[in-house]
Amino acid sequence: MSDFPSFPPDFVLGAATSAFQIEGAVYEDGRGPSVWDTFARRPGAVLGGATGDVACDHYHRFREDTALLKGLGVRSYRFSISWPRVQPTGSGPVNVAGLDFYERLVDGLLEAGIEPAVTLYHWDLPQALEERGGWRNRDTAHRFADYARLVADVLADRVPRWITLNEPWCSAFLGYAEGQHAPGAREGTPALAAAHHLLVGHGLSVPVLREAGAREVGITLNLDHVTPATDSPEDAAAALRAETQRNLMWTEPLLKARYAAGEDDTWEDLIRHQSFRGPGDLDVIAAPLDFLGINFYTPSVVRNAPYRDPDPLSRTADDNRFTGVGIPEVRHTAMGWPVVPHTLRDLLVGLRERYGDALPPVYITENGSAEDDVPAPGGAVHDGGRISYLDGHLRSLAAAIADGVDVRGYYVWSLLDNFEWAYGYSKRFGLVYVDYATQRRTPKDSYHWYRALIAGQGQGQGEPRGGGRT
Ligand code: FCB
Repeated sequence: MSDFPSFPPDFVLGAATSAFQIEGAVYEDGRGPSVWDTFARRPGAVLGGATGDVACDHYHRFREDTALLKGLGVRSYRFSISWPRVQPTGSGPVNVAGLDFYERLVDGLLEAGIEPAVTLYHWDLPQALEERGGWRNRDTAHRFADYARLVADVLADRVPRWITLNEPWCSAFLGYAEGQHAPGAREGTPALAAAHHLLVGHGLSVPVLREAGAREVGITLNLDHVTPATDSPEDAAAALRAETQRNLMWTEPLLKARYAAGEDDTWEDLIRHQSFRGPGDLDVIAAPLDFLGINFYTPSVVRNAPYRDPDPLSRTADDNRFTGVGIPEVRHTAMGWPVVPHTLRDLLVGLRERYGDALPPVYITENGSAEDDVPAPGGAVHDGGRISYLDGHLRSLAAAIADGVDVRGYYVWSLLDNFEWAYGYSKRFGLVYVDYATQRRTPKDSYHWYRALIAGQGQGQGEPRGGGRT
């Protein structure tokens, strides 16, 4: 028996990054500013005043990073395209120099035998669109579909797998309700409008991507595994509100063409102003998907709580009368996130039970762990905590597959240490350590572990890897 979790012969093992978190080069080749460039300059918004100006300098070092991926042996690499690099103001003609960068990256990946998987939107909205209301404005959904066309017309012949949005929950709620992410707004109904327009933008772009020749089109959600803290009816209702906000408001429209049943109890007055919803929107949003991407890091245990803001008029859309309860008995990562690997399996099996055949094949598009990595004398990084995190979650994933959930692949977050949003460079998720002063990359122990896991797949399974499943 191998020491590693094992997967079906055609299972995709990959690694993921996103544009703003690694590229840097924010002023080069005609790139326009994004909401994250603006937000990072707001005093106090990002830890230590960090910006994405240089990040991992991937824009200039992508060949070295592609070599790291090749050394790892991943079959696929998930990266995102910076909208303002390709379309500096979010509308109008393509910025050819910006799109050229992604052509070079894609061609380099294909030469290295790695399948590119593109995310079109990983939170870096062109600032010019935010100035017209950002995702609160329905027009942004149409701008997104236009941008999808510009990119896919050039890349769909070489990129098989396309993800429209990454974690729209974060864009809508962290961005427009909680204010912890760009653009840093704290709003009620407008944040719900943003959530809706994100879904409409996704739905409008699905047929566009297919027309351009994309083979597999999906969306990535950060679905949560939520359990109530006690058996009380109050906590059960609180858990349902949490599930509505985190999961059902996304999966119900996408997979069932309906709004979540629990939305009235979750948002009360905020959802009563529904002018942002148009007739026919659900049909647009529910465009059939080839896969559902799921990012999973940690579960939630919640209990009932009073409104944080007693005044309904100043309540934000994330104020839904629930609060998280700690899980002190398990290890926590450097993010303070409890490590409970079996909840990944439980989440997937629960989705399969809820949605049956309406659940498309799944890719885990992110999973990983921030650890307090410190290079040893000589430079090696011994990140046993990350290895045990990945091992636990991959075993849990293998158990979900054994239970009948159709999971096609898994992408580790992340290839490189990078800009962790409001935490700046203080949290390290990489398989590869980045020394930000020198931009030197050092594969950590987890990189070598993941490489061995990938190399060991297929052995003794009687079939070569790499066969297409479709
Ligand atoms: C996810 C994001 C990703 C990264 C990880 C840790 O929510 O999609 O960019 O920040 O969390």
